Order: sequence, then structure tokens, then C-alpha cells
Amino acid sequence: MFKIAVLVSGGGTNLQSIIDAIKSGYLSNCSIESVISDRKEVYALERAVTNDIKAYVIDRKIHKGRVSDEILKLLCDKVDLIVCAGWLSILKGDLISKFENKIINIHPSLIPAFCGDGMYGIKVHESAVEHGVKVSGCTVHFVDNGTDTGPIILQKTVPVYGEDTAELLQKRILEQEHKALPEAIKLICDGRIKVNGRKVIIK
Ligand code: GRF
Repeated sequence: MFKIAVLVSGGGTNLQSIIDAIKSGYLSNCSIESVISDRKEVYALERAVTNDIKAYVIDRKIHKGRVSDEILKLLCDKVDLIVCAGWLSILKGDLISKFENKIINIHPSLIPAFCGDGMYGIKVHESAVEHGVKVSGCTVHFVDNGTDTGPIILQKTVPVYGEDTAELLQKRILEQEHKALPEAIKLICDGRIKVNGRKVIIK
């Protein structure tokens, strides 16, 4: 069984897409061992409990710069992949090195556009709409020591229309996120991903 831990900070719609993909058999060899949130009282935790998944809070306000170390303590030698799904804290230190190319994140833009420090949630889409891009989308990438800088696994695109608001664009991209994340997990679980420097080769 390919064991996954999912890191969350909000509503958990991306977590739900993984739960649904396991239930449907699309991710037949995968199991979610735990869900970890960096804050209390987010709906993603309720989604975990409802689906009998162990849920933990490593509160960023309490653990401050040691959130990554606490995650490592909880997950070391217990999971095959860590999935950041709407996760807002920066991961760093030994966690990154011990889980090299075993942590993935989904970002709601076509990296390297509209990403990096401070670029999360609706801000990403406000920037895209303001910039007047004709195409946007989402990116699943490996997590390294930077912010949204790891090797890109998958991207999915959506059109951006002149009359779009940031909220409309966010909704359109979120639908693609819910496809891209399970697809990337399946590729990794099936051993079809090879990382060669910055390049990710899908076998
Ligand atoms: C999504 O746009 C995701 O790309 C970003 O956080 C947002 C909320 O995700 N990282 P979720 O609904 O909490 O999964």
C-alpha cells in the first residue's frame, strides 16, 4: 500500500479530491495515513474525521519555526509521500532533505508565474486577472527548500476571459486542481516519475 500524509490549512477541497479518488478506485493502491493542519478549526480536519483518517494539528502559532520538525517526527519512516493540499506554511530543514522528491504541492497558477512568497489563495488570481493573462491554471510540483520552486510534475491550463473576476478564475482553476493532484499522486504511486535535475520525466 502506498502511504500518504496530507498537509492542509483550509477548506480541504484538494484533500477531498484525494479521498474521492481512493474511494473510486482511481488511486487503488493508496491510503491516507494522516492529515496534518497548521491551524485549528479548518474544514479539512472535519473532512478527515468524517473519513476516519487520523487528524493532527501542529499549530503554527505555537510551534512557529519548528512546524517542519514536528511534521518530521510524526511522519518519518511512516509514509511514502507527503502531499501539500492547500497548505500555507513553508516547509524547511531536515524534513525536506529526508523526504527529497517525496513532498508535492499544488499551486493555483502556471509556475513560475504568480508564485513565491506571499502568493497564495485569491491573491494569485487577482494578479493573473490584473496582468491580463489569456491562460492560467495549476501546477503540481515537488517541494524543495524554496517557495513554489521545486521540479514541475504536472500542469493544467484554463482560459482567462476579459470579464473574469479573480473569484471566477479561482473556481475554474480549482476544478483542474482536483484532477491534477490525484493524477500526479497516481503517477508517483505507479513509479512513473523520474526526476532529472529540474526536469520531471513521466515514463
Ligand atoms: C487551492 O487553491 C490550492 O491550490 C491552494 O489552496 C487553495 C485551497 O485549497 N494551495 P483547499 O480547498 O484547502 O484544498
